[in-house]
Amino acid sequence: MEIITNPTQNEIKRASKALKDGHLVAFPTETVYGLGADATNEKAVSRIYSVKGRPTDHPLIVHISSINLLEKWASDIPDYAIKLANEFWPGPMTLILRKSSLAKDFITGGQNNVGIRVPDQTVAQLLLKEFENLGGLGICAPSANKFGAVSPTDAQAVLEEIGPSMDSSDLILDGGFCKIGIESTIIDCTKPEPIILRNGFITQEHITQLLNINSKIESKSTIKHSGNFQSHYSPKAEIFINQTPKTGQGLIALSSIKTPEGVIRLCCPKNNEEYAHQLYSSLRKADNLGLKAISIFLPDGTGIGESIIDRINKAAANAFNLTE
Ligand code: TXA
Ligand code: MG
Repeated sequence: MEIITNPTQNEIKRASKALKDGHLVAFPTETVYGLGADATNEKAVSRIYSVKGRPTDHPLIVHISSINLLEKWASDIPDYAIKLANEFWPGPMTLILRKSSLAKDFITGGQNNVGIRVPDQTVAQLLLKEFENLGGLGICAPSANKFGAVSPTDAQAVLEEIGPSMDSSDLILDGGFCKIGIESTIIDCTKPEPIILRNGFITQEHITQLLNINSKIESKSTIKHSGNFQSHYSPKAEIFINQTPKTGQGLIALSSIKTPEGVIRLCCPKNNEEYAHQLYSSLRKADNLGLKAISIFLPDGTGIGESIIDRINKAAANAFNLTE
């Protein structure tokens, strides 16, 4: 495996060729790093599952460079999904749609729908475009971490998570820190009205405002998706929520909360956006420092705050052994 830092256009071309040849390429997006494979190559896709240690019935998101390729992968697309796509793509939103015949069981986990996203990140966009120039139709990419672990938000974290499981011809494209820091909002668009399956930077308010829906979007769905497992995104350290940390423990909280003496401050975000951006790398830092416990003070639930609280609760669930 090779890491390419700040890849040039030629290096991105090389990475797209590697994908076309069936190798894996980890790449940055605006949310978290993804572990990419050619979404039409069953053998390559099966390697994603083995590198991540992920059960094969968990579907993968197909990334495309623009809405123009949407109809290759999806069928019976409702008008409201087109509206969402036009408004929020490229961006941190995944749409679940009825699949086309191109979307095979090996990416949909055997379900009759497919997850699609257009990422808003320069390296990701260039990679997708170069891949499409070679005749590629989409790159499927889960977060580039071991199953159940914290999503990586920088290339070093990708290396720590899955580097040892990658092959010598696989690549990691290092495009710096991810702008947003938590995974995309996932919206089920297979019903008359949208249903949020995983919250993220695009919130319920954004969606209801755009679509002029008054009712609250229900967040329950029969669709199987790993984002709804109680324990996920988990560090090794035990997490305590809204409790004053003791000496030697870690602390994650907004900057308005002071650090007690002897406590290891893991981040000091000034607002919810900074909180989202720093959360996963702070959890990772705690593990790298070998901390046994982290105290996390929740942000308020406005904007991306709700998604941060959701991820923290899932990370904390592990401490009580609510395993997947
Ligand atoms: O921000 C993101 O979405 C990142 C970046 C790399 O794009 N990707 C990501 O992928 O978070 P992953 O696989 O770690 O999480 C995707 C979630 C999983 O819970 C999966 O079960 C769900 O999306 N999902 C994917 N395809 C689906 C489908 N067809 N139906 C229902 N859920 C689906
Ligand atoms: Mg994931």
